[in-house]
Amino acid sequence: MLGRVNHVAIAVPNLASAAESYRVTLGASVTEPQVLPEHGVTVVFVTLPNTKVELLEPLGDTSPIAAFLARNPSGGMHHICYEVEDIVAARDTLKASGARVLGDGEPKIGAHGKPVLFLHPKDFQGTLIELEQV
Ligand code: CO
Repeated sequence: MLGRVNHVAIAVPNLASAAESYRVTLGASVTEPQVLPEHGVTVVFVTLPNTKVELLEPLGDTSPIAAFLARNPSGGMHHICYEVEDIVAARDTLKASGARVLGDGEPKIGAHGKPVLFLHPKDFQGTLIELEQV
């Protein structure tokens, strides 16, 4: 079911400062911020030769990463995103095996304009998993 790692995501309290740290201190290429109201986050991507790192900042009072940042005030690893060929087929297989899909279970359009879903961390070794159809 799983293809490549699309990105690893890090929740951060201050996106501008996190982007600066990757751009200047680590010498990486960082995209411009993208505001994603439907996901309650603003993101930038650090582009690496083999994958990407997504830096996430909360957007609005009901951001799904607000509680995570309350527990991890200086930021922390938030999720890993794997590529799948058919997200609806992957979802149906996972649900049939008892895995919990977050939200209403319908794919939403993610930061790359592709459908994404999130899987419950308690079903996968305490790690929030994002699936992205490529
Ligand atoms: Co992501």
